[in-house]
Amino acid sequence: MRLDRILSNRPRFSRRTASQVIADGKVTVDGKVCRDPRIDVSRFMSVSLENELLQQPDTAHYLMLNKPVGYLSATKDHNHRTVLDLIAPALRFDLHIGGRLDRASSGLLILTNDGVWSRRLTEPKVKIPKVYRVTTALPITDDSIARFAEGIWFAYEGLTTSPASLLRLSCDEALVTIYEGRYHQVKRMFHAVGNRVLTLHRQSMGDIRLDGMLEPGQSRKLTSDEIACNHSG
Ligand code: URA
Repeated sequence: MRLDRILSNRPRFSRRTASQVIADGKVTVDGKVCRDPRIDVSRFMSVSLENELLQQPDTAHYLMLNKPVGYLSATKDHNHRTVLDLIAPALRFDLHIGGRLDRASSGLLILTNDGVWSRRLTEPKVKIPKVYRVTTALPITDDSIARFAEGIWFAYEGLTTSPASLLRLSCDEALVTIYEGRYHQVKRMFHAVGNRVLTLHRQSMGDIRLDGMLEPGQSRKLTSDEIACNHSG
């Protein structure tokens, strides 16, 4: 919410008087004077007017989960187990998923209550690399590697995917790096080149990596460095 709105939501300030006290340097955001009334302030920041706390910051939560196959990337479902069932009730808060995985896929899943942060991680235009280990039904051809690098036409969205890298590990196993995260993107890219994904496991999103310490179904809090790498883009 804009800083002036946080003040003018209170009956004693109009939009104009709110802007004035901000311009006068009387308002601090996270302890620092802020003179710009238009700045966006998240619910995780504190706002004070002189010594009066106007906005108490909410606590932001950031978790990674090693998603096992068979769990739905959703917070609620009537028919299937969801990834939230794997999180201790005391840690669930108002978490949402940053970058879903299909039910049949496994690997790195991020859960957070910070929508601005998770959007930066998942928005196609931000181009964060996401690395998947895949096994395929048919051998991975040189032509597929070239097609992934060129980008694949997705008729449904009417777009060509960003260049992706396909690093062959064996004839039917590869590391795929994509920069978007569209619906079933990796499976659809293989389908487009006449192949089929059998298993798909996400290893990393940007600088956030499953470190081999988490068994399927286990989760942990992100470190401050992992959180910060996405804050700085
Ligand atoms: N691409 C897919 O096809 N599935 C996923 O779960 C993630 C990326």
